[in-house]
Amino acid sequence: MKAVLYDRHGGVDELYLGDVPTPDPAPGEALIRIRACALNGFDPMMLGGTTGLHVPLPMIPCGDAAGEVAGFGPGTDAAGWQVGDRAMIDPIIDGRGMLGEKAPGAAVEYLAVPLENLVRIPVGVSFEHAAALPVAYGTAVRMIEERARVQPGETVLILGATGGVGACCVQLCKRIGTQVIATGGSAWKLARLSALGADHVISSRSDELVRLVRGIAGKPRYHDPDSGGVDVVINYIGGTTWVDSLKVLRFRGRMVTCGATAGYDPPTDIRYIWSFEQTIMGSDGWSREGLARLLDMVAAGKLEPVIHVVRPVERIRTAMSELMAREVFGKSVLTL
Ligand SMILES: NC(=O)c1ccc[n+]([C@@H]2O[C@H](COP(=O)([O-])OP(=O)(O)OC[C@H]3O[C@@H](n4cnc5c(N)ncnc54)[C@H](OP(=O)(O)O)[C@@H]3O)[C@@H](O)[C@H]2O)c1
Repeated sequence: MKAVLYDRHGGVDELYLGDVPTPDPAPGEALIRIRACALNGFDPMMLGGTTGLHVPLPMIPCGDAAGEVAGFGPGTDAAGWQVGDRAMIDPIIDGRGMLGEKAPGAAVEYLAVPLENLVRIPVGVSFEHAAALPVAYGTAVRMIEERARVQPGETVLILGATGGVGACCVQLCKRIGTQVIATGGSAWKLARLSALGADHVISSRSDELVRLVRGIAGKPRYHDPDSGGVDVVINYIGGTTWVDSLKVLRFRGRMVTCGATAGYDPPTDIRYIWSFEQTIMGSDGWSREGLARLLDMVAAGKLEPVIHVVRPVERIRTAMSELMAREVFGKSVLTL
């Protein structure tokens, strides 16, 4: 069967279309005919070998996928699933790890996964929309709803809001009823953020983040909950944005991180954390319930996944190059 592979770390030239054996599902597993998969910010990191994680090679990229049930492992209790049913795959597989990271990913025609990792795709939701959701949208739900517990009327600063996680954070925060300040890397992406509902947009290339955010949300004052600042910063960028974020958080504000696209060991300034009684929290992964809820929201027309482009998987090099060049808004989806 067809698969996208890379045998060693490097750039997009390492990606090639190969032929690998179709997997035999084990007991308790379903065989899924993948119809759509999607790239995430971590795919270029895995390809480049820049995370410090050990990636077993050859590797198949893509953590996100949706497809049809094509069969079951011997003796499997199908638990209501039938051949032909449409399913999204929860990409963290018990004992195997994350697809595209520790385990071969979903840019492949068939994947065998435990039945418990399947989430039913409701009528009316396309494979492309379902494949756009798991990693980025699932993570955004965890950060906004379960960790930061963003409340109506709050002001939220979302850094790097133009990626898959960020676009969903903007959508969720607007649904909750917050004021959103979002950063993006180019004029066309800032326009897309405004169209998505962001109240204020700031260039992520600016070195004046603190001044610009304080110009919108006001200046935080020591021990003064009624002074300015943002209530929440969503920061998976790290790098130079870390201390700047501490400087714009309101007294008792919260900052949530799920990653560090621009560097995981930035300097910090502990004075802000104690003086302004800030809460810094981590967020990792998603819940299966969160994924099912996202699918229901899409089916009900309450959320439309932001898809940059849908392409056939043969064009993965183009999709990966765009992601590396920061020329993607939302999710890059590939069909098989
Ligand atoms: N822990 C978890 O469970 C989990 C799950 C999913 C994702 N994550 C992490 O969350 C982050 C976002 O994921 P994603 O898939 O949405 O990523 P993404 O789409 O690649 O990136 C998000 C945005 O970051 C900005 N960016 C890219 N490179 C940058 C750089 N060198 N410096 C500053 N900004 C840069 C880009 O925005 P502009 O070019 O518009 O500025 C991009 O749109 C990643 O760090 C990822 O590893 C963690």
